[in-house]
Amino acid sequence: MSNMTQRRILVTAALPYANGAIHLGHMLEYVQTDIWARFQRAMGHEVWFAWADDAHGTPIMLHAQKQGISPEQLIEQMAAEHQRDFEDFGLSYDAYGSTHSETNRALVELIWSRLNDAGAVTRRTIAQYFDPDEGMFLPDRFIRGTCPKCHTSDQAGDSCDACGASYDPTDLIEPHSAVSGAEPVLKDTEHFFVSLDAFQQALSEWIHSGAVQTEVANKLNEWLGDRLRDWDVTRDAPYFGFAIPGQPDKYFYVWLDAPVGYLASFQSICEREGLDFDEWMAPTTNTEMHHFIGKDIIYFHCLFWPAMLEGAGFRKPTAVHAHGFLTVNGAKMSKSRGTFIKARTWLDHINPDALRYYFAAKLTPSLADIDLSLDDFKARVDADLVGKLVNIASRSSGFVHKLGDGRLSEALRDPDLYAHFLAQKSAVAEDYDNRNFAGAVRRIMTLADEANQYVDQHKPWQMAKEAGREAEVLAVCTQALNLFRVMMTWLAPVIPTTAARAGEFLNAPMDDFHGPDTPLLDHRIEAFQPLMRRIDPAQLEQVIEASKASLG
Ligand code: MSP
Ligand code: ZN
Repeated sequence: MSNMTQRRILVTAALPYANGAIHLGHMLEYVQTDIWARFQRAMGHEVWFAWADDAHGTPIMLHAQKQGISPEQLIEQMAAEHQRDFEDFGLSYDAYGSTHSETNRALVELIWSRLNDAGAVTRRTIAQYFDPDEGMFLPDRFIRGTCPKCHTSDQAGDSCDACGASYDPTDLIEPHSAVSGAEPVLKDTEHFFVSLDAFQQALSEWIHSGAVQTEVANKLNEWLGDRLRDWDVTRDAPYFGFAIPGQPDKYFYVWLDAPVGYLASFQSICEREGLDFDEWMAPTTNTEMHHFIGKDIIYFHCLFWPAMLEGAGFRKPTAVHAHGFLTVNGAKMSKSRGTFIKARTWLDHINPDALRYYFAAKLTPSLADIDLSLDDFKARVDADLVGKLVNIASRSSGFVHKLGDGRLSEALRDPDLYAHFLAQKSAVAEDYDNRNFAGAVRRIMTLADEANQYVDQHKPWQMAKEAGREAEVLAVCTQALNLFRVMMTWLAPVIPTTAARAGEFLNAPMDDFHGPDTPLLDHRIEAFQPLMRRIDPAQLEQVIEASKASLG
């Protein structure tokens, strides 16, 4: 590690609902989070990637009912399935918990009592739609009817897909329950609300602390400009969630306990690793907490969540990093077009590192949507990873074994070129740190062009035919393999599995960003094994076909 202070970083990705399969839209976020976490570790920082399934809520309860199993069974199956997908995509989380855990319950109750003590909780009776056939209150999205603004039929109770209007469920024309089809009736119920007014000042300061992207800050300031509505955190039974202490038949709304799940997962890491949870959570801490999220859940993470933390006397997030949505072949993912691709379907047919690379090549700190064009994906992976990067190693390694008995030369042939590569390190690192992965990838690929030019100029394959030039050939290949190592090490956060195999080939670990500061000289390498293949168009077709087939 070089002379810098070690940062202590807690990093999270949004918790997937324990309700369905992971798809490539999720993977965009999870790959982004993982690259950033791996990069910070490679810089020598202390990093804890705490993660979990989001297990509560009406959709999960109804989904389990439909399958004839208990919600507990459903969330257990989903958690196992999710983690298989994540491991196979090389995600390096340190713990995977569930919001439906006793650790989380205890933290939720602690935060709840502190919010109460702070006077931030109010209660009042509201009238809410109730399904008389099912005997349950209906969440907005389980009420359908005709849009009050544009009169399109079959719209959800909170907003209209056709005209984008948002409204209250009681505004819907001819409402009916999406669960039973019955006409809902209004029924009184007493709910608890968290009042955000008290946190206006703290929120405004937090927003201006550099914790969010400019686009996000603008949006938040707009919301803060209007008086913030109190947040209804109550759901009536039947509900799958945590009961509100002392309130029979009242549950916490899933979005209250979901972000607390970040802390519960981290607390389990603290217990396992002997870290001081309270120190990490103190408002005065010098540790960092970073949340990666999609742009659809900014409100929850940038208003409700910091308010809860403030009210509970915990530290607020160092940063919330929001990203745009994934489209496939230029359009919203579509089941009928076969572009609603599950993580597992991808894993069945195509190398996950190739997708990680493609995502990285397109990820910037902006909120713009990102398109996975399958043709462009193939072109990019073939040209960059196979054609430029891996090619350098495959062209050079054979001679090292043939002429040097598997040992690299004792000196670099072109130390200036090597220094020129190392001179890019801080710019590449800065790009990673700022989540400008596209920038980091571009810099590394420019170097790959230069490394290939070096090999092309010196033509080791020609020299090798001339007697007495063995040492020269070896020196050129030693130079080339060292340049390869620089690039592979810097790309390891993006393509960790490929990099680990390259590390075995070079007999040098790839997990230290500064490792290549010292070149590999007079050093044994192993036999080269192909690290990455070209993308076969047939594989891409299989992914589309399999996605169409699994419509359910
Ligand atoms: N359970 C909540 C998050 C709770 S965090 C305390 C949730 N779950 S989700 O499964 O719907 O989404 C998980 C993450 O995936 C979110 O950040 C969401 O924005 C992201 N994405 C879901 N679909 C996506 C795309 N098509 N593209 C990019 N990200 C997407 O929200
Ligand atoms: Zn409408």
